[in-house]
Amino acid sequence: MSSAPPVLRLVEVTRRYTPAAAGSFALGPVSLEIRPGTWTVVTGRSGAGKTTLLYLLAGLDRPDSGSVFMFGNDITHASEGALAMIRRARLGVVHQEFHFIDHLPVWQNVSCRLVPAGVSSRSRRERAADVLSELLIQGTLDRLPRALSGGERQRVALARAVIGAPEVLIADEPTSNVDSETGEVILSYMKSWQERGTALVISSHDRAMVEAADRQHVLSGGRLEP
Ligand SMILES: Nc1ncnc2c1ncn2[C@@H]1O[C@H](COP(=O)(O)OP(=O)(O)OP(=O)(O)O)[C@@H](O)[C@H]1O
Ligand SMILES: [Mg+2]
Repeated sequence: MSSAPPVLRLVEVTRRYTPAAAGSFALGPVSLEIRPGTWTVVTGRSGAGKTTLLYLLAGLDRPDSGSVFMFGNDITHASEGALAMIRRARLGVVHQEFHFIDHLPVWQNVSCRLVPAGVSSRSRRERAADVLSELLIQGTLDRLPRALSGGERQRVALARAVIGAPEVLIADEPTSNVDSETGEVILSYMKSWQERGTALVISSHDRAMVEAADRQHVLSGGRLEP
């Protein structure tokens, strides 16, 4: 499985948020390959560049130099529309800050990616209920995001990321601020997706998450440690 071509690939990417004269790279140069069905964990201190790296991998941000490949295609300069289509069909992302749509109930947040595919609202609700029940929070279906606990929020974000059965799941600190029992639910749910063939790319400080992964990369000052 690991000799299969990469699902995601970064080639010598760099990213800085401030003008060259004013600051250093937030990330890079970094090269990285994610192969199908593998579990990669990225660790590193706060500010090391984990979120920056995951955003580039997810095509949610663009590098200042270098190239990004998604499922074999160079997406470095792809249009937003094309990127959104690939992401919707093949990628799931759990954001560190969730980015829920505050005025929509949980089931609509979870199933919103199914709207462009023309899935009826009734079956969207059913599919959301299925995923939420796998994560043991079916009771949150009709709540607004603001009425969720921290652990529920993490699981709703995960439910939204996997509802389309993605080939790659990217999750930014998916077990931060949850108790150990909830952390275990999330971890074993991640495992179940790897068993279904999904590649996982997770940033985490959680020891159990690091131990479950096939490969670990450590970011330090925007660079991957050798
Ligand atoms: N939008 C932005 N504008 C300016 N600087 C930014 C921006 N986003 C991130 N940075 C800087 O880039 C660096 C990497 O940030 P990033 O969010 O990738 O780190 P992180 O490893 O995810 O940190 P954390 O563990 O706190 O989430 C940091 O120095 C951060 O301050
Ligand atoms: Mg971060």
